[in-house]
Amino acid sequence: MAWFNLRRGSTQRASNDPTGDEAIPPLRVLAARHGLHIGAAVSEKHLREDPGYREILAREFNMVTCENAMKFGPLRPSRETFAFDAADSIVAFAQEHDMAVRGHTLIWHMMLPQWFRNAGLSYDEAIDVIRGHIHTVTRHYAGRLAAWDVVNEAFEDDGSWRETPFLKMLGPDYLSMAFHWAHEGDPHAKLFYNDFSADEINAKSDAIYEVLRELISQGTPVHGVGFQMHVNLENPPRPKSVAKNMKRFADLGLEVQVTEMDVALDVPATKRDLAEEARLYGDIMEACLGTKAFSAFVTWGVTDRYSWIPLQFHGKGAPLLFDDEGRPKPAYFAVREALQKELKTVPT
Ligand code: XIL
Repeated sequence: MAWFNLRRGSTQRASNDPTGDEAIPPLRVLAARHGLHIGAAVSEKHLREDPGYREILAREFNMVTCENAMKFGPLRPSRETFAFDAADSIVAFAQEHDMAVRGHTLIWHMMLPQWFRNAGLSYDEAIDVIRGHIHTVTRHYAGRLAAWDVVNEAFEDDGSWRETPFLKMLGPDYLSMAFHWAHEGDPHAKLFYNDFSADEINAKSDAIYEVLRELISQGTPVHGVGFQMHVNLENPPRPKSVAKNMKRFADLGLEVQVTEMDVALDVPATKRDLAEEARLYGDIMEACLGTKAFSAFVTWGVTDRYSWIPLQFHGKGAPLLFDDEGRPKPAYFAVREALQKELKTVPT
């Protein structure tokens, strides 16, 4: 069955599938058998300009996240205007290729527009602007998105509240307000809290756990928690702790997702590091598959070429499942194997 042919892909003619088995279906087909979405963060520019990128995305993934296009800054050139075009074209691509979309993100302290930072809003004005933003954006995409990261990165690593403009203007209630407003705008999207370095059991995930538990007990429409999983080999997450952490959130009735996985390697990456990276990807996927409420696994980009890691962290790179040329890396095969291994335990 010609599901796909890795050697025939438009940018990756030289790919080598070490299993030698080209009849194995792509990741999205394997993931679907688990009822799982497998996704990638996507940039509108690369989607428009690079046919190889489009081909890999449509072939391997059944979910997309806009890497930047749905953030406050990119969506709001001014207080009066919304710029939906870039995000709209990503959503249209997803719909054409039968992919789900994760909305990312409504409330985040980064990539805020200058006009918002400089506005000096009072409590009432802040409510007006932030509620207006959330309502307009969630209504614009209502019915087309599977999930929204409503609030991103509200806590510090020690578990304290991050001093964001939202905390300063509205106090800790902004969390609950944001979820209510998002739910008003799109009652069908699953609403997530999303953060980094909360993948394991630690002070940060403890704080998030307590706050989400409290929100749920108050009837706040929060449905899931996203673990970003931006990791490296120096201090890799321990799969057992990740599984245990996911389980406690799942026990609150929440969906759990890996929302932004990448593994920052020293570049140029050695064979050994690529193998370690593969092992980590495979182990994390396996750990996640053990949690029933685990519903999506998203990598923060499609190929290494366009990853944010080398731009943000000097000397680091090679964090994703596909290399600069779009060839599947050992990490790809490890994720594939994890998806297949689990299947063997599922009665057919
Ligand atoms: C990053 C993007 O990848 C970059 O292109 C941008 O310059 C900054 O933001 N956590 C998140 C993501 O939730 O939105 C961030 O994305 C990476 C860290």
